[in-house]
Amino acid sequence: MHQKGIVTPMTTARTPFPDGFLWGASTAAHQIEGNNVNSDWWRKEHDGTGRIAEPSLDAADSYHRWREDMDLLAELGFTDYRFSVEWARIEPVEGRFSRAEIAHYRRMVEGAVERGLRPIVTLHHFTVPQWFEDLGGWTSERAPELFARYVEACAPVIADSVPYVCTINEPNMIAVMAGQAKRGDTSFPPAGLPTPDDETTDAVIAVHHRATAVVRAINPEINVGWTVANQVYQALPGAEDVTAAYRWPREDVFLEAAKGDDWIGVQSYTRTKIGADGPVPAPDEAERTLTDWEFYPRAVGHAIRHTASVVGDVPIVVTENGVATSDDERRSAYLAGAVDELAACLEEGIDLRGYLYWSALDNYEWGSFRPTFGLIGIDWETFERTPRASAHWLGNLGRTRELPRTAA
Ligand code: BGC
Repeated sequence: MHQKGIVTPMTTARTPFPDGFLWGASTAAHQIEGNNVNSDWWRKEHDGTGRIAEPSLDAADSYHRWREDMDLLAELGFTDYRFSVEWARIEPVEGRFSRAEIAHYRRMVEGAVERGLRPIVTLHHFTVPQWFEDLGGWTSERAPELFARYVEACAPVIADSVPYVCTINEPNMIAVMAGQAKRGDTSFPPAGLPTPDDETTDAVIAVHHRATAVVRAINPEINVGWTVANQVYQALPGAEDVTAAYRWPREDVFLEAAKGDDWIGVQSYTRTKIGADGPVPAPDEAERTLTDWEFYPRAVGHAIRHTASVVGDVPIVVTENGVATSDDERRSAYLAGAVDELAACLEEGIDLRGYLYWSALDNYEWGSFRPTFGLIGIDWETFERTPRASAHWLGNLGRTRELPRTAA
């Protein structure tokens, strides 16, 4: 599929990474901005039930410090920055849109461009306005119309200079979390990948298709798509059919729905082995990250290949891949493994357009600040930002596109 006016792939002899390959990092509004007081998550964090261990409060204060964040990313050598705009800020009350917040996000787009960063904008990353949740959220009959109206209101933010727009981040996790909530559980990430809620699956697919049409009407040059969490399901011997049946409602139905989009975002962190009875935990001796996931740098290659096998010729961008660790050398090792996989996928001829690490900054990991995913560390008292060695390594790769032998 032809991508609209952004990238002219041209493989050079010294690097598998084509000109225009996206090198960047990702964030999400609620996880970094702070004080997202009109969102459903803010309410959950303060509803007195104690279901959410730690509230987001000021998060990384990026609502005020976004310039500093973008300065750092650009100085480090990155060419792309994925961030989300917050529906609960833009439409804090149903039908009432904040001109000041739209201007805020427009300034962020302009600020990125001024620094040489291409802005990749996510319209919805897990949080919704409280009023939308009260109406019934995604399964409300009015959801497609209400989300479409919000996307129209975002026109001043995305109409110019935004090459990629993501409508909905990880619709599959939204469906999984909806299924989990129906069973009274609100932990994030959901333990054991519970069965997604079918009604929510259908609803978010319908909302995505409607929102895609709205974005195209705003500017047909925008590449519009969505980003799907890929759990890297690996069948144990004899469990191929079980794995396919397990994967379909949690992943493939959402990839199928992306056929006809301008791009698809791949998001992967670890792998999930499936046996005859479902997921099989990693062995005790396996290295684990601060989210308790198996340390598995090759996940991204598997996720890219699987996504390509389902979506066909839709271009792929890795929009999230990373590791929560307090040892930055392990982050560098993870990155080295991931980058080797990217190179291999390109050499295999997969239409891979970019790599965005999760996350640019340490942030609020949906209930806790403990899992540190960031290329850039944060002092939570002063909000001082400090790029880690891994940030310099990956940023330099963005600048030179030369594939180093090690992640030293
Ligand atoms: C989400 C992020 C989250 C990350 C690590 C993805 O599920 O898009 O918001 O922080 O993975 O858990």
